[in-house]
This record gives sequence, structure tokens and C-alpha cells, in this order.
Amino acid sequence: MTRFGWVFRKILWYLNNNNLKSQRAWNEQYLNGDWDCLASELEECRFAAVRNSIDKHCNQKSKVLDVGCGAGLLLKNAKHSIFDQYIGIDISNVAIERARTNKKSNIKYICADMENYYSATKFDMIIFNESLYYSKNPHKLINRYVEFLNKGGYLIFSIFEAKNHLNLIRGLQKDFPAIETTRSNNKRGSWYCHVHKI
Ligand SMILES: C[S@@+](CC[C@H](N)C(=O)[O-])C[C@H]1O[C@@H](n2cnc3c(N)ncnc32)[C@H](O)[C@@H]1O
Repeated sequence: MTRFGWVFRKILWYLNNNNLKSQRAWNEQYLNGDWDCLASELEECRFAAVRNSIDKHCNQKSKVLDVGCGAGLLLKNAKHSIFDQYIGIDISNVAIERARTNKKSNIKYICADMENYYSATKFDMIIFNESLYYSKNPHKLINRYVEFLNKGGYLIFSIFEAKNHLNLIRGLQKDFPAIETTRSNNKRGSWYCHVHKI
């Protein structure tokens, strides 16, 4: 392959695999309606899988953190939810403002970058619902968030099945074997919901 061909392939690889975006880019995408698809009926199956994990593993004393919560759709469409406190964080203030239309007193939405968010509060469940693959270094990030979990707490990952997410899924299984995995499918694609007990 020529040097030019090699550089071109590198650029293509970068464009296909680099999910990292600035806060401004996320805000613009939310304002343009690029993420309106998340509210589609076709996404309901993966939200349902995450909600089932909350219902199964949380109780009235549980504290839940949702990292990259977007516009708060996980709880917006939930019929019920069992926990003491839920905190959703997202880098996009546009998404967070939308999430804040949910006014329940035990639900709080904070605009924060997951790469440097710090919590003095410990949680019983931490959820990455289609957000982990936007991290610079997902494995490093998870190890940091594990520190925010109470002993016996749960990590929940929902990950869209895509070629460039397979390594992430395999690596997660190696470091944190899942105690439960649900695969949801429809014409849009497939999502894995992995539950890990720490
Ligand atoms: C595909 S959306 C999923 C949103 C939501 N969890 C859902 O399932 O509808 C990914 C979300 O991750 C957020 N995100 C991306 N990078 C982030 C970061 N560094 N810190 C916090 N949130 C981030 C985006 O703003 C976006 O809302």
C-alpha cells in the first residue's frame, strides 16, 4: 500500500471509531433533532431491559447513577421505578434541560462530563445506557466509577451491537463477567444489556 493509501485508511478508521465529541457538538446535535430517534418506539426494548434491571436489583433504599442520561428518557417513559434517589449526568446541557421536565423530588439531573465527574455519594447501581463507547478510555472510566459503588452494587451497560463495539463488549466480559445479559432486537438493530455485580 502506498503511503497516501495508508494515511487515508488511518483517517477512515479514525472517523469510524472515534465517538468523542465536544459538549458543543452534542448540544448542536440535540438542537438539530439528530437524537430525536432515541424517543422512537424502536428504542423501547432496550430501555425496558435497563428498567427491568432497576426493578430487579433496586429497592426503596437504592441510589442510582445514570451516566450519559441524555434527555432522561429512561425514567420519562417508565411506569414506575423503585429507588431512593436517582442522579442522571450528561455532558449536554440541552439534553439535561429536557430531562429536567421530570420534577420528581428524588430525581436529579446534572450537566457534567463523565470523564471528570466525581461523587462523594456512593451508589447501589450505576448505569451506562448507550454512553460508555463515548468515553476516551472506557475501561479506565469503569474502574473509576466502580469506586463510586457500594459493595455488592451493580453496573449496568446497554451497548448497541456494532462492529466497533465488539472489542469493548469482549473486554468488559473479561474484566467484569456479567451475571445477566439480555439481547433486544428489532429492525433498527440489537442491543445488549449486561448486568455486573461488583
Ligand atoms: C446515544 S446517547 C444516549 C442517551 C441516553 N442514555 C439514552 O439512552 O437515551 C449518548 C449520550 O451520552 C452523552 N455523553 C457523551 N459524552 C459524554 C461525556 N463525556 N460525559 C457525559 N455524557 C456524555 C451524550 O450527550 C448523549 O446524551
